[in-house]
Amino acid sequence: MANKIFKNGENWFDTDGNIIHAHGGHIVKFNDTYYWYGENRIDNAYVNCYASKDLNNWEFRKSILTTDSKVKDLGFEGNLALKIGDKKINIERPKVIYNKKTGKYIMWAHYENGLNYNEAAIAIASCDTPDGNFTYHGYFRPFSYMSRDCNVFEYEGNMYFISASNENKDLHIYRLTDDYLGVAERVNLLFEGESREAPALFTHNEKIYILTSACTGWRPNRGGYSFSDNILSKWAKLRDFGDDTTYHSQPTSVLNLSVNGKEQHIYIGDRWGGNQWDGHNRKCFAYENSSYYFSLIEIDENGKLILKECDEFTIDLDSNGFEIVK
Ligand code: GAL
Repeated sequence: MANKIFKNGENWFDTDGNIIHAHGGHIVKFNDTYYWYGENRIDNAYVNCYASKDLNNWEFRKSILTTDSKVKDLGFEGNLALKIGDKKINIERPKVIYNKKTGKYIMWAHYENGLNYNEAAIAIASCDTPDGNFTYHGYFRPFSYMSRDCNVFEYEGNMYFISASNENKDLHIYRLTDDYLGVAERVNLLFEGESREAPALFTHNEKIYILTSACTGWRPNRGGYSFSDNILSKWAKLRDFGDDTTYHSQPTSVLNLSVNGKEQHIYIGDRWGGNQWDGHNRKCFAYENSSYYFSLIEIDENGKLILKECDEFTIDLDSNGFEIVK
């Protein structure tokens, strides 16, 4: 089957012809299948899961977390309510990780009560399969710190969680407990007072890189990146990437592809409001139009990170991997 041409900012469709809603998410490979997890705010849904073998055809598996999900108390301080009265809570930037020791798939996400952004906490859910009905375990603040935009990252055998803390002024990195159901220790503090969010990490040539955005709500802004020799050590001063609006996107994750011996890092960003965005900071505006911005990350011989401008791309896992068409 020919590979698709994806147009950044336009709605993309699953194999049933429905719009793909997986915002603030990530694409992760478990066994031989890629899973795309992300937010869906429509009806009773919170988190959607799609599956693909070729990164072209995405099958909708299900909304793995909804207002009707099962709950189980694991002792977190936050309650287990998946609705407050008749209002939905907010589950943002969900990421799913697999714990080899327990055989569980565990979701880490940003929790808010649906009324405001004051809870600034982590929501946890788990499941025996990557695309099953996840059980919700409530929410907590890591060591009582605020925790908003977040991500997960596996590094040298440990799993880490990174999130915006201190009213989004700082980013904290935590090492997770062995079962991935809690934080074991806070191991680093990044960009103190610099107000960065939307963190996404990847490794390249023995360095670890982080992409972030500035804090302007749903409005896009200039991306900033940094790198370090080790997740635990000092990180370089932030440098710009992309253009003034990061090509009208905000980072959410990086997909690492290896095709015919060629390593590629694919930027996955949200284009909140899709191509219909009208320049205003409307809360949850045009959510149904929200789309994505995928592009190639390049790192030159001096370690400079370049995010390429891209209107259209293809992904061909048999030969060239990610290619920019236009
Ligand atoms: C953004 C954040 C999104 C969402 C939004 C709400 O800055 O990255 O995940 O929380 O603010 O205004």
